[in-house]
Amino acid sequence: MFSSRVATKLDRDNIRQVHRLAFSEVEAQAVATLASNLLDEETSPGTFALVAELDGMVVGHIAFSPVTFDANQKLTGYILAPLGVMPEYQKRRIGSGLIERGIEQLAKQGVNVLFVYGDPKYYGRFGFKAETTSNYLPPYDLQYPFGWLAIALNDEVHAEQPLKISCVKPLRDSALW
Ligand SMILES: CC(C)(COP(=O)(O)OP(=O)(O)OC[C@H]1O[C@@H](n2cnc3c(N)ncnc32)[C@H](O)[C@@H]1OP(=O)(O)O)[C@@H](O)C(=O)NCCC(=O)NCCS
Repeated sequence: MFSSRVATKLDRDNIRQVHRLAFSEVEAQAVATLASNLLDEETSPGTFALVAELDGMVVGHIAFSPVTFDANQKLTGYILAPLGVMPEYQKRRIGSGLIERGIEQLAKQGVNVLFVYGDPKYYGRFGFKAETTSNYLPPYDLQYPFGWLAIALNDEVHAEQPLKISCVKPLRDSALW
């Protein structure tokens, strides 16, 4: 059984390695750089990451960073990115465990909505839905619009008019979208 804990900057090399191995060659470098840059983000509310450990090594990583909404200061949101599990450790619920632990923490903090840009078949298992993003515009044009998903964590998340989302600097790269 794996354990998970909050990641620190000391985990940087291991986290980079997880994503280098987890993602395809075309994506791996950009994702490893994103994960590393997010470790240095000083935001309020905070950006945070979790690592999964097994066999004495870091085998999985997930990061959550805050988003802001144009013209709405009341809503609070986060985005999940990136998530990776080393290939030989996949299919042991490590990815699920990291997502669930992050959701639990954000829900406790009172965050309204958590976004992700990913595969609906995977993230749908945790309650992420395309409908929940219907009035939230991603910061960039998406290569795969069906992958723009969200889960409501607390109360009212229905935006009455389309709200554009802004994210932290490491995610402000159109190549990631
Ligand atoms: C996606 C990922 C994080 C899942 O990690 P994991 O620890 O293997 O996940 P879990 O063990 O919790 O869940 C595994 C299940 O999800 C399924 N799954 C994994 N990726 C999937 C996808 N893209 N679409 C649908 N199902 C997927 C597996 O087939 C498996 O199904 P099963 O439970 O029916 O056997 C891991 O496969 C990974 O690192 N992939 C490469 C990087 C990536 O794509 N990250 C997500 C980017 S949005």
